[in-house]
Amino acid sequence: MRQDPASQSPVRYHPAVEQADPDEPQVFADLDQTLAKIRETTFEHSGHARRSVHAKAHGVLRAQLTVLPDLPEPLAQGLFARPGTYDAILRFSTNPGDVLDDKVSLPRGLGLKVLGVEGARLPGSESDTTQNFVFADSPVFAAPTARKFLSNLKPLAATTDVAEGAKKALSATLQVAERVVEAFGGKSGKLISLGGHAPTHVLGATFFSGAALRHGQYIAKLSLAPASDALKALVDQKVDLDGRPDGLREEVVRFMAVNPAQWDLRVQLCTDLESMPVEDASVEWPQEQSPYITVARLVAQPQTAWSEAVAAVSEDGLFFSPWRGLADHQPLGNVMRARKLAYERSAQFRADRNQTPVREPSEITPSIGRA
Ligand code: HEM
Repeated sequence: MRQDPASQSPVRYHPAVEQADPDEPQVFADLDQTLAKIRETTFEHSGHARRSVHAKAHGVLRAQLTVLPDLPEPLAQGLFARPGTYDAILRFSTNPGDVLDDKVSLPRGLGLKVLGVEGARLPGSESDTTQNFVFADSPVFAAPTARKFLSNLKPLAATTDVAEGAKKALSATLQVAERVVEAFGGKSGKLISLGGHAPTHVLGATFFSGAALRHGQYIAKLSLAPASDALKALVDQKVDLDGRPDGLREEVVRFMAVNPAQWDLRVQLCTDLESMPVEDASVEWPQEQSPYITVARLVAQPQTAWSEAVAAVSEDGLFFSPWRGLADHQPLGNVMRARKLAYERSAQFRADRNQTPVREPSEITPSIGRA
């Protein structure tokens, strides 16, 4: 008999929920080297250093995050322990390390940076006052471990900056294949991560942390879902990308010029380490066992979602890493541990090559959201 989800108590965080493999330092270094190959190739060809992955941005927004009052104790943890309103920055992206025509349709990412946060900090983030959450539009990560991700990434690294036409054709084929898979009730993560993502509006996406985080005394995954009617109307809305290499960004700019947007920030607590593992980021935690529950609302007023001035700030001067934030939101599991070195090294490369410091802001740079 299935238990009522409300009756299942959340698993308490303890350092033993993580089990690091002895070979992790080597795998993480190999992963960084593969990512370095991508960023060095794009730098060589364009003369500008970009993120090793998620290089193309589709919009950058200023927003405000409001933590809801009266949350039950297991949800009222870390940043969400007390009601409050914070300034925030959002950066929407797609996942390759090169800046491609949007016709090459790929998974989407979202970096959320909450500013002016108080509390004990993660190692390496002691002097910051931000909380970063980093999302993608799939409830799971494409690989269970960093080792598997490394083996997926190597062939993609080899195709960085190769003829775009070939990638366009590949994506069109994969979109057809994807529809076949979906027709049979499945969703092929592999196909999607190769470039078979439906060409939908970026603002209609629901985003997920994919991997686990500490949630104060507990363990959780996070998600950000469209909440306002105008945003919900964009869910699965197809975007015509013919002859529009930056069509996804154009649609974000067009929408945000006149509409406010509201998302729910939601927490899924781990209530069973067997069915909701921490070390395997490819396992979807069953929502029948533990549903996502809204803990905060994120609101962006109508604004300019992209400009040259914003690009200079967000593409060169900012990075979003799950390892910049509160100790209460410590990233957990093998994939999360791998990200610490990878994000710092990629940001450092950009800082060095572009001769622009990449640092955590203490307030929103005035150009973000302004014309
Ligand atoms: C082993 C796993 C992973 C590795 C090695 C990795 C690596 C990276 C690197 C190197 C960057 C660029 C950092 C920079 O220069 O600022 C990046 C950015 C990003 N990653 Fe990951 N990542 C991993 C897993 C994930 C997962 C699980 C998600 C989401 C669920 C994700 C979403 C993103 C997003 C959205 C960005 C762009 C952030 C921004 O706008 O600055 N990554 N990743």
